[in-house]
This record gives sequence, structure tokens and C-alpha cells, in this order.
Amino acid sequence: MKTFPSEFAELLTPKGRRILEGRDREACGALLRPGQRFVALSGVLDARKATACRDALEKSLRASLTAMEDPIPPESIWGMTENYAELLPKTVRVKTALLESRRSRSWKAAEEVGLVEMLHSESFAAFAAAVSGRALRRKWGIQVLCYGQGDYAGPHNDHHPEDAEAFDGYVDMHLTFATPAVAHQWLVYSKGGHFTEMQSVNTVGGITVYRLPFWHYTTPLMAKPGAEEDARRWVLLGTFLDAQKERRRGSAIEPPATVTQPAARPG
Ligand SMILES: [Fe+2]
Repeated sequence: MKTFPSEFAELLTPKGRRILEGRDREACGALLRPGQRFVALSGVLDARKATACRDALEKSLRASLTAMEDPIPPESIWGMTENYAELLPKTVRVKTALLESRRSRSWKAAEEVGLVEMLHSESFAAFAAAVSGRALRRKWGIQVLCYGQGDYAGPHNDHHPEDAEAFDGYVDMHLTFATPAVAHQWLVYSKGGHFTEMQSVNTVGGITVYRLPFWHYTTPLMAKPGAEEDARRWVLLGTFLDAQKERRRGSAIEPPATVTQPAARPG
């Protein structure tokens, strides 16, 4: 059964639709404001539909998840030769549903509930364009993550300096669906050179939008006492590259006309 609608817009509340249509001053173009690289939105996905989506993820995708693990390298301590010279690479422990191959079990399960189609729908990208305030490329990456008890992502910045299309920055949009057994999980991020900012990501239907790169980390998911087995946070993720500056009409997902684009930088 297809729990996920074919268009993302069908999950939206009236507030969500206002954002999609460029009529919400606060959320639209939020990531164009100087110094603002992150925004968390609530009340945007219909609560009942979001719960149904969460339950569909729990039912259909749990069995085919793959572990993704990059632990702290022991050499980061025992290979040091100089005091205070420690460097921590990106560490992470999370599960993921592999959607790259159509033959994978995850892809089939995600396809069956309508998830693949929704994450590829025009309104999914249009929402990211409205909040980021930028024209985005039509081909975007999709991913499903699942954080269980103790799963986390250590400090990292998601910079891709080797990719010509991303080295100047790009946009990520995450939809969160947590089970009632989750006690807490936080996104901590930097502003002005310090990790001063913190946002709860223990939501059902919360949306977070990022203008990467910037330093951030996700704290270990903590279950309510005795509920470790049932505590999970599902994240549906879209990764969007900026549209090419010179492009044909209709070749990109444009933000609504009411959202002002930043002036082109000279040079
Ligand atoms: Fe990240």
C-alpha cells in the first residue's frame, strides 16, 4: 500500500503550503539571510499523515537497513606525537536504507510504500527551493537514515571541495519521523566559530533545511528508560545542488517569485 503520496505537497499543512507558495515571510528564503545556514520548521507536515508515514517506515524499511559505521580511529589518540594536537575525523554510527540500486531490498520496499516517488516529486524540491531561496538542479540525491539507541554523527562539516558543483555550497533537506520511545536527540551546530546552537530533532514531521557546509553534529539518540528496542528516528533526506547560473527556462526548480535571490557576486 502506498502510504506516501506521489507529491510531497500532499503532506503539508496550510502553513506548509504557504511556505511552498512563497507566502511565509519567516520561512521563505530563510537561508539567504546573512549568517543563517540552518532552519528548523515545525507545524509544516500534517501530524496524522506524518504519523502514518513513520509507521510505514517502521513496518516496511526496518528489515533491510544497512549499518553505517565510522568509529573513532585509535591512532587519533595513540598515534599522536604532540600534546593537544588531536584531530578527529568524521565519526558516525547510523543505519541506512540503500536506494542507489533498484535491485536492492530497500529500494523495493521504499518503492512499494510510495517513498521513492515522493522524494523525487517536484514539490519536495520546490519546498527546499522556497526555504533556501535558491534555484536548485532537477536531479537531486535521496537517502533514508535510521538512528537507533546511541546512534549519532560526530562533528563534521559536509564540505565537498573536490566536487566542482558543490564546493561553493549546497542544500540539504531532512524530514524527521521519531518513534514515541525516543527521549531526545539534538542537532548541535556552530555559529560565529563556536558550537553554541542546539535544536531538538525528536519530532514527528519536523523539517530541517541546511545550507552546507558548516560544522555540526548529531547527539546520540537516547531512548526513554526501558524502551531502547523501539526508539528510532527516521530521516528522509534530499541533497540539492545549486542550479547552473546560465540555464534554460524550466531546467531548474526555481524558488517562488516572492522569494528574493541574492545579488550575483562580482567575479
Ligand atoms: Fe551532516
